[in-house]
Amino acid sequence: MGVQPLAPAAEEDPVDDDANTPERLREALVDEIAARSALLGRPLAPRVEAALRTVPRHLFLPGRSLERAYADIPVVTRTDSAGLPTSSVSQPAMVATMLDQLRVEPGHRVLELGSGGYNAALLSELVGPAGSVTTVDIDPGVTARARSALDGAGHGRVDVVLADGEFGLPDRAPFDRIVVTVGTWDIPPAWPGQLARGGRIVAPLRLRGLTRSLALEPDGGHLVSRSDEPCGFVPMQGAGESAVLRVPLHGDEVGLLVEDGPAPDAAALADAAASPRVDLRSGVAPGPADPFAGPDLWLATALPGFCLLTATPQAVARGLVRPAWTTGTPALAEDGGFAYLGAPESAGAGSGSSEFVVHAHGRRAGDLAARLAGRMRDWDRDHRSGPGPVLTVHPAGTPDRALPDGFVIDKRHTRVVVTWP
Ligand SMILES: C[S@@+](CC[C@H](N)C(=O)[O-])C[C@H]1O[C@@H](n2cnc3c(N)ncnc32)[C@H](O)[C@@H]1O
Repeated sequence: MGVQPLAPAAEEDPVDDDANTPERLREALVDEIAARSALLGRPLAPRVEAALRTVPRHLFLPGRSLERAYADIPVVTRTDSAGLPTSSVSQPAMVATMLDQLRVEPGHRVLELGSGGYNAALLSELVGPAGSVTTVDIDPGVTARARSALDGAGHGRVDVVLADGEFGLPDRAPFDRIVVTVGTWDIPPAWPGQLARGGRIVAPLRLRGLTRSLALEPDGGHLVSRSDEPCGFVPMQGAGESAVLRVPLHGDEVGLLVEDGPAPDAAALADAAASPRVDLRSGVAPGPADPFAGPDLWLATALPGFCLLTATPQAVARGLVRPAWTTGTPALAEDGGFAYLGAPESAGAGSGSSEFVVHAHGRRAGDLAARLAGRMRDWDRDHRSGPGPVLTVHPAGTPDRALPDGFVIDKRHTRVVVTWP
């Protein structure tokens, strides 16, 4: 085998030694996040932007390249025995959004649940020398890593504690702000119970398989959401752990994720998946928006049999299903049949526009498809450009008559009501 001689370096190639310094990469990343936030109509708070420009994220990702540390992606740092992520240093844009939601002031006492070190360092910048930050993680490997990175980044004042965040940190309460950076199925009583007067909790709450980062404030005997942002997080471990039910439709390739609802008849649904497909045009055009910010939460609260259909790209390529989004497309399962939101198709020859198509299988497929398409049209007409939902979180046991009008999702500790103005 011949060996080609190495080409001599082209001397005229400009070499910019400073192009990939952490400082430059960080500036570029924050510029990108700030521009996108402004475009979405919710510009970053100046103090949050300043903190993002200050904290060196690469110090919290030892062993990873600078390019990876300053890309707008979550970086997985721990996985379980099945290879699923259990810990990450969160995506910078999501971190920024949640810090905006949290509204941290200098002097605040902040509790963070779920430690990567990076967000705790940002919080430390925001509270300043008069405030305090305590970060809690259930995994000793994560707390050790966070401790060492925080020390290395000059944030030795942040306390790192090994504990199950489900119970907050009663010894150090009250807190002005509690930020949960792990996907939680419920709001356990410890969190509002450890909040100071005027306090705020930001938590990624799982609702029927979807996750929304909620900014929650106490209002009488319950919590009320001041904002909600679509997001995705690794699931909570420990006492607050809660599994999502997966109903296989085509083995491991296509399934329905069911949460906060009755378990459907799995055998009947697998049979239905093998039956002929019914297609129904919805009359609703796709928009430029992020798919996760679309109709999913509306459908989850308008359809009692709501679930999410997931599929591998290979299953889609083979034509087994035609979902709008493979990672979880809104679906409805009932009476041994199911319907789901399909990928947009041309609205007709020469129209130049497209519309979502609903697909359905099994008993009453036509009826299920019509119901899902009808709720899509409701969303398009009444909520697509509206203010979005208000969520209230009430203690479990609150009687129906004491709840506001809306869709009720019962959890272990709470009753969550989603109301669409
Ligand atoms: C997405 S990571 C946190 C990211 C981090 N805040 C950062 O700065 O990027 C979620 C963390 O939550 C932790 N976790 C899971 N269940 C927990 C629990 N019950 N209590 C405390 N931490 C938990 C995981 O070990 C994981 O490290």
